[in-house]
Amino acid sequence: MPVSTANHLLESLEPVVAENLDRHLGLAQEWHPHDYVPWSEGRDFALLGGEDWSPEQSRLSETAKAAMITNLLTEDNLPSYHREIATRFGRDGAWGTWVGRWTAEENRHGIAMRDYLVVTRGVDPVELERARMDYMTSGYDSGDKTPLEAVTYVSFQELATRVSHRNTGKVTNDPVADRMLARISKDENLHMVFYRNIVAAALEIAPDETMRAIADEVIGFEMPGATMAGFRRNSMMIAKAGIYDLRLHHDDVIMPILRHWDVFDRTNFGGVGEQARDELATFLEGLDTQAARFVERRAEHRARAAARSDSGETPDIAS
Ligand SMILES: [Fe+2]
Ligand SMILES: [Fe+2]
Repeated sequence: MPVSTANHLLESLEPVVAENLDRHLGLAQEWHPHDYVPWSEGRDFALLGGEDWSPEQSRLSETAKAAMITNLLTEDNLPSYHREIATRFGRDGAWGTWVGRWTAEENRHGIAMRDYLVVTRGVDPVELERARMDYMTSGYDSGDKTPLEAVTYVSFQELATRVSHRNTGKVTNDPVADRMLARISKDENLHMVFYRNIVAAALEIAPDETMRAIADEVIGFEMPGATMAGFRRNSMMIAKAGIYDLRLHHDDVIMPILRHWDVFDRTNFGGVGEQARDELATFLEGLDTQAARFVERRAEHRARAAARSDSGETPDIAS
């Protein structure tokens, strides 16, 4: 899309952004990270005369640790995401107010999760800090997305994050962590609704360009953490545990948003939009098949692991 068209679209969407910003501010409830952290469990580390972290202090499973670290490091790269949206949406008017507000809300997520993990000694704080330094130093760059592509991408990404936090809470086996992650998930859901509503308006203003952006963002979707050290290993564990996998990605992230936009029943597309929709439909069929295969393989793997543990062998920890 030429720059002039992209800017024009941003301007046309401004009243919708203003309306949804008001809606968001009306619905968002104030909450404080400190309320979600069990401070009474905290104690000094060696530098202050206490004891440094060691693995037996953690009550989290290997899977819960992998998910917590992945989710926290993803939240930590906020300066990159701020840059991503500030350069696309600008700093003026309702777009600019949203960029600031969203950034401030997101920062709470990293604060709450880090405080929880350090106080409860859930993960190695040295390893966590080194990973944060590493990941933030390389930063996140989504490439040359247009503003429309960026707003489309984050619609899916916010919902993906919501699902991931929510299911991570469940595998921690800790009601304190579960409550904290449920609270964070609520924020992610409101963020998703905001972006989703902007794209819905864009589908009316510029149906073909928006449909093209939707197809491209679904087909090329990648979580922002993909460049993080250990991401492959951790995301495998996360998928095996059903925290975030292809089935959830298709059923609980991509499809509900596409349905909300009425993508497959719309009649206002020209040739470009029709073609993009066809490509999307073909891709989704493939994704659904892949998801079914993954779930099948996982079930077989779990059954084998259960049989092994019945016979007294050590079960695979990630399954
Ligand atoms: Fe977040
Ligand atoms: Fe969010």
